[in-house]
Amino acid sequence: MDNMIARRSGAAAEAARRLVRAGAPDRELALRRYGALAEKYHQRTATGDHFRRQVVARLAPLPGEVILDVGCGTGLNFKAIRDAVGPGGRLIGVELSPRMLDVARARIERHGWANVEVVQADVAEADIPATADATLLCAVHDVMRSPSALANVLDHLRDGARIVAGGPKWARWTRSDGLSSNFATWRMNRECVTTFEGFRRPWSHLEHLVEDLVVDEVFGGGGYIACASSRWSGPAAAAA
Ligand SMILES: C[S@@+](CC[C@H](N)C(=O)[O-])C[C@H]1O[C@@H](n2cnc3c(N)ncnc32)[C@H](O)[C@@H]1O
Repeated sequence: MDNMIARRSGAAAEAARRLVRAGAPDRELALRRYGALAEKYHQRTATGDHFRRQVVARLAPLPGEVILDVGCGTGLNFKAIRDAVGPGGRLIGVELSPRMLDVARARIERHGWANVEVVQADVAEADIPATADATLLCAVHDVMRSPSALANVLDHLRDGARIVAGGPKWARWTRSDGLSSNFATWRMNRECVTTFEGFRRPWSHLEHLVEDLVVDEVFGGGGYIACASSRWSGPAAAAA
């Protein structure tokens, strides 16, 4: 969409440019948005619950594993992960928004999960207190568009760890229903992302950091699930 709009001139294109933000992820905007959204986040995104379950199923956490939930939000994926890793595993959520984490912490307390912890930070700078066996990046487009955030996540994974990312994307514009489908995607996600940059291939930075990314399109191309293992050959590989 970014290119389509960029090529056009006139008032409608200008209005579209204002609506479809396409710069770098904006941390301050994310903090404001999620600060306001936290209490009603689940209600607003409940239609995504089935997708969340699908993405966690692809991660396939095992008993005893250490799992990183990046951009964990209010912890809507915690139960499925905690059930899978069991009391002997460990789940670490990393989240930018203090208000989203308030809800996540209340969830942890309510369930009495002693092995679920959260770190409040921009994941690009987060001091992650473990080396994980697997990581989940569920509906975190802003993180997917930040190479430094992805690099910090990969630095905290053991060799061979599993990486599963899933979220919305633009369907092919040339599909007969491309415009209406992408309009629905935009409406659903405009409060949840601070940029639509890279929305055609949200995994495009990740694919340069891992060697074996496999991407499945879901929802007729309006979503994706990308799976890889963390074989990253270091900064030289990223720069190559
Ligand atoms: C759409 S929500 C997804 C939450 C959760 N993963 C889910 O499946 O419901 C995106 C979350 O990513 C967080 N986020 C965005 N940029 C981030 C960053 N740089 N570091 C950490 N969290 C970030 C937001 O604050 C928000 O809670």
